[in-house]
This record gives sequence, C-alpha cells and structure tokens, in this order.
Amino acid sequence: MKAKIINNLKEIDSGKVKEEILEGLTSQSRYISPKYFYNAGGSQLFEAITELEEYYLTRTEKAILSGIGNSLEIDFTDLNIVELGSGDPSKIRLLLQQIPSEKLSTIHYYPVDISHTAMENSMDQLTEEFPEIEVTGIVADFMQQFKSLPKINNRLFCFLGSTIGNFQPKELVTFMRNLGSEMEAGDHLLLGLDMVKDSRVIHRAYNDSQQVTAAFNKNILNVVNGIVDTSFDATDFEHLAFYNEKKQRVEMHLKAVRDRKIRINGNQATMDIKKGDTIHTENSYKFSRRDIETIGMHAGLKPDSVFTDEKKWFSLVLYSKSD
Ligand code: AVJ
Repeated sequence: MKAKIINNLKEIDSGKVKEEILEGLTSQSRYISPKYFYNAGGSQLFEAITELEEYYLTRTEKAILSGIGNSLEIDFTDLNIVELGSGDPSKIRLLLQQIPSEKLSTIHYYPVDISHTAMENSMDQLTEEFPEIEVTGIVADFMQQFKSLPKINNRLFCFLGSTIGNFQPKELVTFMRNLGSEMEAGDHLLLGLDMVKDSRVIHRAYNDSQQVTAAFNKNILNVVNGIVDTSFDATDFEHLAFYNEKKQRVEMHLKAVRDRKIRINGNQATMDIKKGDTIHTENSYKFSRRDIETIGMHAGLKPDSVFTDEKKWFSLVLYSKSD
C-alpha cells in the first residue's frame, strides 16, 4: 500500500486555543469545548465507553455499517473516501471489507483527524489489512480547515459516530454549509446520527454503572490543566449527565463538590469555584427523521437512503449532491 501523511496542523494557533479555553472558563455559564476530551487518556476512556453495555451508539452504528455495502448506491471504482474525524479505523474497516476486492485497488482513502498519533496507528492497521488501498492521512482540524481536503472527483465523505451531535445548532449549520460548498455533483456524504428515543435509554448511555463516562468527563480537567496551566483537581468534581428533552440533547457537566480556588496560567490569576457550581463540558444532540432532511438542506444535499437498526436508534444517511 502507498501511504503518506500530510500535516496541516501547524496552521493552528496555540495562543488562540488557550484564549478560547479561558474565555469558556471565565464566562457567566462556565464551559469547556468537548473537543478537549481527547488526549491519549481521554481517547482510551472513550474507547472503553464504546464497549459498555449501556452505550448503544457505536455497537448499533457498526451493525448497520456492516450490512450496507450492497445497498449503497455509489460507484466504488476510483472512489475517494474522505473520513472526517477518522480516529481509529474500526468503522471504515467495516465498509472497506464489503467492497469487492477487484475494486479495492482503485480506492483512495483519506482519513482526516486532528491527532497525528491516532492517524499513524490507524494507518498502520489499515496497511496490514488492506495492502491494495492507497491511503493519504490528513492531519487537520476539519472544522476550520476545509481547504486541506482533497480536490478530486467521486468523493464519499464519511462523518460517522454522531460526532455531528457535538455541534451547537449554529455550528452545525456552518459546518454543513462549508461541506456543501466543498462538495461537487456526484459526491456523497455518509452521515452517522444518533436518533431521539426513550429518554431512559439515552440517560443510561451517559450514566454507566462502571463510571467510565464519569472518568471520561473528569479527564477533561487534566487536559485543560495541561493547556492553560490551571490547577483543577478532578476529584473536586462529580459527573452530571442528563437528557434535555426540549433541546433534544444530552448535557454533561462537572459539578463542584467543595469550594475551591483555582489558579489560572500558573499564578497569574485565580478563579473561585463554589460547591454546586457547574462547568458544561458537552452537548450530544439526538436527531429526528425531520432533522435528516433539514441537515441536508443546509448543504444542498438530499438524503438518498436512510439505513437504520430494528429499533431505529441510530441512522446512517447517504446524501448526494445534485446541482
Ligand atoms: C463521540 C460525541 C459521539 O456524544 O455520545 C460519549 C461522546 N460523551 N459519552 C457522544 C461521548 C459521553 C460521543 N460522541
């Protein structure tokens, strides 16, 4: 296999990252962006989450993905698969396994991820398994770096895992607009969406009995400490996750169990956290059948097919661009 990595991350300004985190921490309603969950430890914890009995998302999506190869109305010959937020290769593998072997050698796979380490690992695994595929890894923040995507014909964009559920409604619109203007007639998008369902099922998925999600949530404080030199102690907080039915989203927060003075930027400033104060760390939006249409509309895309499981808990939507 021919494999190479293009690193576009140097364009990201670390000063801006610090500013953004501090702005969230010092705002009226404290928050930290969920993109900071994923340091090495956080990524491991997330992987452990995907294996939990309560966390149905990954398992359900993978089951759907494993069965759709023959139903996808796209031409696999000379197909360019662009996976946004590729992370580990466990999902794309399931798709690649369903492509007839004589077509595999004509496929070019472009994983796009912010983590160079994850990219290397992922590419090593895929090299072993699919020696005939050409792989070009792109290390970039696809939210801000649409420019770094390959400009070619016959692209299948994959945005899986309901990662899109982390976006605020406005961010979702901007993201879909950007993606829509990037896409050309003939391109497709395969989008993974976690669907609205019985709120007890959702609640359990984010409040697992082994407290892995709690550990994942608290770990974001370690990540923040490393970036902006704060003095958060994860044991001063408890995990809070609930389904907000009206907003169609799970909210995760960290709730202080005692009063604490937090140092910021070494010793340059301090911040008082009172017992009961919360820091909002994540929204995980859930989607309805109608949302499927609306999401596509922002990008000028129409849903060709919706693949789902028996309980309709998760959807993989194939959109196409027509002009
Ligand atoms: C990776 C954003 C899809 O929202 O379910 C898992 C992250 N947060 N448990 C999700 C997550 C808490 C996950 N996504």
